[in-house]
Amino acid sequence: MRKIIIAGNWKMYKTQAEALEFVQTFKSKVDNTNESREIVLCAPFTTLGAMSKNLHGSRIRLGAQNIHWEDAGAYTGEIAGPMLTEIGVNYVIIGHSERRQYFGETDETVNLRLLAAQKHGLIPILCVGESKSQRDAGETEKIIINQLKRDLVDVDQNNLVIAYEPIWAIGTGDTCESTEANRVIGLIREQLTNKNVPIQYGGSVKPNNIDEIMKQSEIDGALVGGASLDPADFASIVNYQ
Ligand code: 13P
Repeated sequence: MRKIIIAGNWKMYKTQAEALEFVQTFKSKVDNTNESREIVLCAPFTTLGAMSKNLHGSRIRLGAQNIHWEDAGAYTGEIAGPMLTEIGVNYVIIGHSERRQYFGETDETVNLRLLAAQKHGLIPILCVGESKSQRDAGETEKIIINQLKRDLVDVDQNNLVIAYEPIWAIGTGDTCESTEANRVIGLIREQLTNKNVPIQYGGSVKPNNIDEIMKQSEIDGALVGGASLDPADFASIVNYQ
């Protein structure tokens, strides 16, 4: 059985006070969520310590949004694995398209970060996906297969989550058709040696489309941006039919 993982990616939103306010409202809304669903909040670094204390004993897991490949060192502005594990972080998003696009993330650095996450016992959520122009040029399959090949060198597929996030669907309200997302995720699965890796869909997931998305046979969860910032919206996504 593949695990179902619904994760919120808060990106660069929420101060510590705002994060704690979210948690206070959100916690009780997921009390009765099906036990088989893993709930993850990937929050800014500055909120993780306080959130961890607040979530202690709850079923909500914490994720970070980046990790450096060294354990420590002269890397101004970066965060290392031991800094995350010390405060109870379980997951880390790696290779999000916003990092690839705006911060020079390459398949090579994505690979190094994946290996570092696993070395520290964190579960990486690897993001892959094509841009609009790549899709229009009929290159979707090639782009994704290439990303996987380069990103997953020496990566343990028993400790891994993948998110298919078509770049054109992120923050645009232009969700990928659920059947098309299912097809691409099936293609991703074909490339893997471990066929049980949970593969999420991400890109304009909302309370009103989550049921349709989760009906698809290959889709094991969602990575939710904008709609994860509101406790009621994210709770209704987590509590899909
Ligand atoms: P939206 O849900 O805001 O489209 O963002 C998706 C995303 O980038 C999650 O990582």
